[in-house]
Amino acid sequence: MTNSTAHRLTGRRALVTGSTSGIGKSIAIALAHEGADVVVSGRDEEAGGVVVETIRAAGGTAYFVRADLADSGRAVTGLVQAAADALGGPVDLLVNNAAQLIPAQSMLDATEDQIDRALTVNVKAPFLLTAAVVPDMIAAGGGVVVNLGSINGLAGMGVAALYGASKAALHSLTKSFAAELAGKGIRVNTVAPGPTLTDTNAPFHDHLRELAAGHPDGRPGTAAEVAAAVVFLASDDASHIHGATLSVDGGITAVIAA
Ligand SMILES: NC(=O)c1ccc[n+]([C@@H]2O[C@H](COP(=O)([O-])OP(=O)(O)OC[C@H]3O[C@@H](n4cnc5c(N)ncnc54)[C@H](OP(=O)(O)O)[C@@H]3O)[C@@H](O)[C@H]2O)c1
Repeated sequence: MTNSTAHRLTGRRALVTGSTSGIGKSIAIALAHEGADVVVSGRDEEAGGVVVETIRAAGGTAYFVRADLADSGRAVTGLVQAAADALGGPVDLLVNNAAQLIPAQSMLDATEDQIDRALTVNVKAPFLLTAAVVPDMIAAGGGVVVNLGSINGLAGMGVAALYGASKAALHSLTKSFAAELAGKGIRVNTVAPGPTLTDTNAPFHDHLRELAAGHPDGRPGTAAEVAAAVVFLASDDASHIHGATLSVDGGITAVIAA
């Protein structure tokens, strides 16, 4: 560790859902870089193993726990116990990052199965996972939850009604959970990315560049930039921040015209 802000999360036990790829992978690596012990999770065991090895090769501590967040509620909350078992103690930092992404489509084309799946993975699972970690956080005197929302949860977009609704619901959960849990030492906040270049969305990078063009920063974000915001909200640097939505979108949702 060479910079002055390193090790802001030493001793913390983190669970990052959807950290086998994309933004979640960057979040897991960034949390470990700051000293947290991290459980990497998702359905893809092989990809998760690569993330774990990357963290370990850099001197960090990481474990993989497989979970499908579209499974039953009991299976989803089982992830929390399995993560605690791997980490040697209860999770005190939960990052609800996994999401069911939906192809751009007219609302007329959304199927019932898509609606059920988006709400299950993007809303029900974070709700259940948060409820599962909170009792131990209360017992320990505090903890942190960071939810990955989206600019689609903040503003409408013609081809993203379902995805946007699921993210708006997650933004809402952040605020209600913060209201209920702040007094118990638990901070709950949202990071809302705009178009973000990742390893998984490489075929769409040109489209994401077009979406970002003409907005203040004029470019898509990177997974590392989103991860940096998560690290900040997870750290004691954000000790007075509750129920906030931190947009990491190059100004897209803040400015009508650059
Ligand atoms: N990239 C962007 O431009 C952008 C913009 C705004 C918001 N976001 C938000 O940022 C977060 C990460 O997005 P991303 O772009 O990094 O997506 P991604 O690369 O597709 O990664 C999604 C992750 O979620 C996991 N996942 C999906 N379905 C799952 C399930 N049923 N059970 C368990 N894990 C599941 C995947 O792991 P497995 O395949 O191993 O299950 C994967 O690790 C999401 O919440 C997304 O909504 C992204």
